[in-house]
Amino acid sequence: MSKNIDWSNLGFGYMPTDCSFVSNFKNGAWDEGELTTDHNIVLNECAGVFQYAQTVFEGLKAYTTKDGDIVTFRPDLNASRLADSARRLKIPPYDEAKFIEAVKKVVLANADYVPPYGSGATLYIRPYIMGTNAVIGVKPADEYQFRILVTPVGPYFKGGAKPISIRVCDYDRAAPHGTGNIKAGLNYAMSLYAIVEAHEQGFDENMYLDAATRTKVEETGGANFIFIKGNKLITPKSNSILPSITRRSLCIVAEKYLGMEVEHREVFFDEVKDMDECGLCGTAAVISPVGRINDHGKDIFLPSGMTEMGPVCTKLRETLTGIQMGTIEAPEGWIVKIK
Ligand code: PLP
Ligand code: COI
Repeated sequence: MSKNIDWSNLGFGYMPTDCSFVSNFKNGAWDEGELTTDHNIVLNECAGVFQYAQTVFEGLKAYTTKDGDIVTFRPDLNASRLADSARRLKIPPYDEAKFIEAVKKVVLANADYVPPYGSGATLYIRPYIMGTNAVIGVKPADEYQFRILVTPVGPYFKGGAKPISIRVCDYDRAAPHGTGNIKAGLNYAMSLYAIVEAHEQGFDENMYLDAATRTKVEETGGANFIFIKGNKLITPKSNSILPSITRRSLCIVAEKYLGMEVEHREVFFDEVKDMDECGLCGTAAVISPVGRINDHGKDIFLPSGMTEMGPVCTKLRETLTGIQMGTIEAPEGWIVKIK
């Protein structure tokens, strides 16, 4: 029985569900893992995660399809990205096949929290790994915990598909040879000062530029950029942005489903004023349209306007969510059925 939740009015927030998945790494190996109803973690005060932020995470979603199945989207890519993130922070990677099994298990156990088809909400899945034993000298932990929590969510930005305003940010999110290309908690800690300042100034998000030259578009604190120019989808390429699974999927959708040209390349900030549409893409953001970009007091208004999503972003969003919700045929292997 589906839980009695007002699905259509959910924001992007946390609520505890029936259970989470937990597995521990000790003496050089991950255990089998199990479901737990305990949503709290008790760790030593000196745990690696607390002292030196040794933690990485993922984000994916479970959807109810039109036919009533519960599915998830390309979890193999989350499994491999989590392993990449882990290796970069000297965390023992979690087996990729077992990751997918654990996702299935925890979603199935919380099936009543998967929002119904058409509600606009989804079940957000947050896998993460943290260093759990005490470390005081700067070094990797020896023991780790892998957990997956799930929580039903609505749109990441209030207003859903209404265009947002962003500003060019003077703080950097990631260094040229740093950790911007992995999903490490530390990257998000880095962005907190900037996002609070942006909100105080009336902006929804920050546009980060490349730290070395400050001439190229990178990403926001939690999503990659997409730009539309004519029949082209243009997405920024950089070694210091997160390889978004949504963005990689949209490039395929644009080319194969919508007959668009796709360019994944460096995008100079100077080019932005000539774009037709701009959007943020990610698991949480899906595609959120950007209507206005403020560059130190000077506004760029995208021709798509401030009232609704532009026509190409709308088509991309409808095609992607149609694939996820089972109304449009998916490329081989993209949809993994849970129930
Ligand atoms: N960029 C950052 C910094 C993110 O945190 C996310 C969210 O996961 C994304 C991009 C989008 O990635 P994905 O589409 O894989 O969710
Ligand atoms: C996601 O889209 O899954 C994210 O992790 C973005 C944000 C909530 C950090």
